[in-house]
Amino acid sequence: MRSGFLSIRTLLTIALSLATPTLSHALDNGLAKTPPMGWNSWNKFACEGLNEKVVRETADAMVSNGMKDAGYQFVILDDCWQTGRDASGNIVADTGRFPSGIKALADYIHSKGLKFGIYTDVGTMTCAKRPGSIGHEYQDAKQYANWGVDYLKEDWCNTLPGQNSESSYTLMRDALAASGRPIVFSICEWGSTKPWLWAGSIGNLWRATPDIQDCWDCKKSWGGGGVTQILDLMNGLESYAGPGHWNDPDMLEVGNGGMTTTEYRAHFSMWAMFSAPLLAGNDISNMTPDTKAILLNKEVIAIDQDALGQQGRRVKKMGDLEIWSKQLQDGSRAVALLNRGQSADTISVSWTDIGYPDTLSASVRNLWTAKDLGRQQGHYSSEVPSHGVVMLTIKP
Ligand code: GLA
Repeated sequence: MRSGFLSIRTLLTIALSLATPTLSHALDNGLAKTPPMGWNSWNKFACEGLNEKVVRETADAMVSNGMKDAGYQFVILDDCWQTGRDASGNIVADTGRFPSGIKALADYIHSKGLKFGIYTDVGTMTCAKRPGSIGHEYQDAKQYANWGVDYLKEDWCNTLPGQNSESSYTLMRDALAASGRPIVFSICEWGSTKPWLWAGSIGNLWRATPDIQDCWDCKKSWGGGGVTQILDLMNGLESYAGPGHWNDPDMLEVGNGGMTTTEYRAHFSMWAMFSAPLLAGNDISNMTPDTKAILLNKEVIAIDQDALGQQGRRVKKMGDLEIWSKQLQDGSRAVALLNRGQSADTISVSWTDIGYPDTLSASVRNLWTAKDLGRQQGHYSSEVPSHGVVMLTIKP
């Protein structure tokens, strides 16, 4: 009898351990199965330009200009919406900038069928010296949930000496879970403690790179820079990304004026190749036709949002000429022929570069000219403008 009891217990233990979910790399909140899309206030409006009028107009524009239909969803307030804490420690919004209050703004955004995001920091103060969430994680998460927040970006400024990134972000993950509201969690520690190694079970996305600059090639002493610097930092991080957990190369600069249309097209294409969050960072209420055509290219957006969620990789580098490839759910490939050089040049992709046999005949389509280029065997060549891409799908 005794030995029978023991064996039942042993069996139960085994059964329980089998029932325990296998360690999953992804944060299990069911969110961001494809990379989040939307708009964030920082790149264009920074601190000084942020107010509820801008945010409401942005939400209006997102609906009327077709961005919502194209998949853009989140309207996110970055730094400077907050001023202090009340006597009970509740976070207080800047009433000068947000006279109607955050709840009313969230309600407005929801009434448009969009989702609402907000920003905080793991330290004592945000990067713009507004109150951070340290010591108030559960209180803040509850407040966000009461306001109707759907997305939280948490920054990494003004941390305490020795503050640990993984445990700080874990605390907010747990606070968000306890709030009872599904909230996408965006970790923003700029890649400084290699978040791809630990953040997959904590956040839905994590910044893998320092702050983007609105320039094509502008290496900064602090390790960041423009689009080409970010490409190089993202290369090699492919295996850490997937549905629900994304490497974030920072928000888009498309339309902010520092790059040419060709460069912005390449920027947007490469973010789609990365399965990056597509958060417009420009004034979407006042876009040029070129900017609009980039942000609204549905074929490029579809590459970003492909359900397989693979982050594309650089498969060939010939000096300034590069080939990047991303496997799609249907087995086909998205390919970016990228020319970082000073003059136009021809780039040829061989099927063997992208994991196909030489003998294969495949349909090629150019996603920026929206033209089918027929069936090609073994390779495809195209001239690529300086600082530009030719973006293709190659379908067996
Ligand atoms: C940091 C972040 C930016 C932005 C600013 C706001 O630099 O990386 O994306 O949120 O703070 O102060």
